[in-house]
Amino acid sequence: MIRELLPGGSDRISPTAHYTGYVWVRNGLSHPALATNAGRLFYTALAPANATSARLGQPHLEHYLLARHEVIDHLLTEAIDQGRVAQVVEVAAGLSGRGWRFTRRYGDALTYVEADLPGMADRKRRMLRATGERGANHRVEDVDAMRDSGPGSLADLATSLDPSKGLAIITEGLVNYFDIASVQTMWSRFTDVLSGFPAGLYLSDIHLGGTRSRLNQTAVTLLSAFVRGQVHLHFTGPQDAEAALRKAGFADATLRRPDDFAGTLPHCTGRSARANHIIAASTGG
Ligand SMILES: C[S@@+](CC[C@H](N)C(=O)[O-])C[C@H]1O[C@@H](n2cnc3c(N)ncnc32)[C@H](O)[C@@H]1O
Repeated sequence: MIRELLPGGSDRISPTAHYTGYVWVRNGLSHPALATNAGRLFYTALAPANATSARLGQPHLEHYLLARHEVIDHLLTEAIDQGRVAQVVEVAAGLSGRGWRFTRRYGDALTYVEADLPGMADRKRRMLRATGERGANHRVEDVDAMRDSGPGSLADLATSLDPSKGLAIITEGLVNYFDIASVQTMWSRFTDVLSGFPAGLYLSDIHLGGTRSRLNQTAVTLLSAFVRGQVHLHFTGPQDAEAALRKAGFADATLRRPDDFAGTLPHCTGRSARANHIIAASTGG
């Protein structure tokens, strides 16, 4: 029923973007114009389960999302403030408000490109226009993360960026929808692109296998139901994932759990901050 509210042409992963987009707005991390009716309905449908989890002191889907979002924001802020990064491509940006927030904060000092499949990108463009607050260095492009080259590829988009400034690529809520071969190839595409810039940083969340956390299992079950497909747990531990990132061409790769940032970031405490990991990988600079 909820699915009927989704725009035509959305791919199977898009429903989750409506849910997360609504969570970002609700928590002051996005502009209200980036919320959708579908997101509100998904949110309402999941609210009783979330409330029960909270009452029982169990992990909470919304807190888990906020923890991952906060850590990625934090690591990106650090890289920008240290002068390593002045350009961002957020692949699979969906209805995230990060581009809106970071361009408001950094103004001309930051170029921010949101990239997504054409249907979602078109929707995001219209929604950002509706905010009336899209900065000159903030744009949305059609990119398929699975495409090697040519129009609609990240490689093609990268030719429009400034090769003298550091670049960050972000994926949030994406990698576990792809099988391991696709992820490994996507990461190699990312290092090919990032190595054309003086500094290259990749930030992402990832769910690992071998995590017995109840939230990890709950989140994976929910995500599978949402997308009517398999959610892939490619690696059994951080070291496996770090090795795969180095194999893809990253010079350094570190996985940390959001609760490693407890005390620094408000949502990075408790069980909800132990369900997944955040990748920070760099090509140099
Ligand atoms: C779970 S949503 C995450 C959205 C956003 N990053 C967030 O955390 O709120 C997944 C997004 O991936 C996008 N997506 C799916 N397959 C993609 C692909 N091959 N290339 C680029 N984006 C893709 C979907 O359109 C959707 O916007």
